[in-house]
Amino acid sequence: MDFGFSEEQLMIQDVARRIAQEKIAPSAEHHDRTGEFPLENIRTLGENGLMGIEVPAEYGGAGMDPIAYVLAMIEIAAADAAHSTIVSVNNSLFCNGILTFGNEEQKQLYVRAIAEGREIGAFALTEPQSGSDATAMRCKATLQDDGTYLVNGKKSWITSGPVAKYIVLFAMTDVEKGARGITAFMVDTEREGFHRGKTEPKMGIRASATCEIEFTDYVIKPEEVLGAEGEGFKIAMSVLDAGRIGIASQAIGIARAAYEATLEYARDRKAFGQPIGAFQMTQAKIADMKCKLDASLLLTLRAAWKKAETEKHGGRFSTEAAVAKLTASEAAMWITHQALQIHGGMGYSKELPIERYFRDAKITEIYEGTSEIQRLVIARNETGLR
Ligand code: CAA
Ligand code: FAD
Repeated sequence: MDFGFSEEQLMIQDVARRIAQEKIAPSAEHHDRTGEFPLENIRTLGENGLMGIEVPAEYGGAGMDPIAYVLAMIEIAAADAAHSTIVSVNNSLFCNGILTFGNEEQKQLYVRAIAEGREIGAFALTEPQSGSDATAMRCKATLQDDGTYLVNGKKSWITSGPVAKYIVLFAMTDVEKGARGITAFMVDTEREGFHRGKTEPKMGIRASATCEIEFTDYVIKPEEVLGAEGEGFKIAMSVLDAGRIGIASQAIGIARAAYEATLEYARDRKAFGQPIGAFQMTQAKIADMKCKLDASLLLTLRAAWKKAETEKHGGRFSTEAAVAKLTASEAAMWITHQALQIHGGMGYSKELPIERYFRDAKITEIYEGTSEIQRLVIARNETGLR
């Protein structure tokens, strides 16, 4: 066991922390209030390798490992969760999927533009009637005589949908085959037949733009199939295993920011002639916050370590990723709740970022698989029953 980080890992953490503190944190309140998409900051993150942290340098990325990704994501999320959502989708759901399942041309074409932060990527699995039950999708891709596919259908809740240039799309190519009838495709949003709905007004991560997208006779060329026909669901699930490590890291970043602000407040704020942090009841809350934060971090680093191992030796890290996401997201919700309580009335005020942390934390229990779905994944893998 080695709890130390390598020089490279510490370097990317430092770069992320510097941009997070100098560029992201000062505008976080503005982005939360207005919901304005932080394009300029995303470009800066891209120029510094943070839009393709695990992407090899030959495809425009930083060429780092999954641990480095966790460390960088935590820094960005601690400054502003909405930024980290955009970073997470680009890194783990978009680049990671194409790097693992794409061919050389696809890696050169799609990964480079996103990893360098010149374009934004998205991942479209969910539909209005199918979120957790992802195989119940209705969006159809029909094979034509000339080898192209005609896509018709809707996808909902697409992060970065309003701004994405390229999207990894999952659609049914053979309804009879269920999960084995789903195929992954690359979509160029500037082509005919692609439409965007209105940007969703959300409770938290408000600067991360989300919308419904629709396809009407959108034509996909044979070279735009990602992996093989019928492999789409497995691609989605294995990409989500990696994505869940990113969301666990996001949850840790939000929780850490709330925890650090709480420590300071508990030392400064006085009641009944003493700092509120000296009351045993506050101290118990702080001790529990610290335990949950540390446990989340260790479990997330374990999942990242297991991901790196499977990259070398094969296998899966589904359970470790689900354990990390479940633990960290529920910890973030609990920690931000306690942080708000310890801040009293000021916790409820928009003058401090505490209420934003609380609103932002909630999404980590919902997207990339709800807490119930993480429990289902863990328990199915552990028991072998379903
Ligand atoms: N890796 C590879 N293959 C996998 C896999 C994994 N992690 N998990 C399942 N599979 C394979 C199975 O082996 C099975 O293959 P065979 O047909 O060869 O047996 C196939 O996929 C079907 O698996 P299941 O029978 O387990 O599928 P299911 O219908 O019971 O669903 C589920 C399983 C875990 C509930 C899954 O549907 C799920 O994860 N749902 C949640 C969806 C989700 O997380 N959506 C996130 C959208 S993206 C997002 O949210 C982004 C964002 O916010 C920023
Ligand atoms: P449902 O599946 O309808 O679930 C409703 C409730 O039922 C939940 O509590 C759920 O846990 C519970 N439930 C469902 N099935 C079971 C079960 N078997 N056992 C126990 N409980 C169960 N999707 C994308 O594809 N791409 C994106 O970029 C993306 N970004 C998103 C951004 C935001 C802000 C949001 C809110 C969502 C995003 N999503 C995205 C969709 C997200 O992944 C889904 O919302 C999520 O998977 C849950 O699906 P649902 O909303 O349809 O809820």
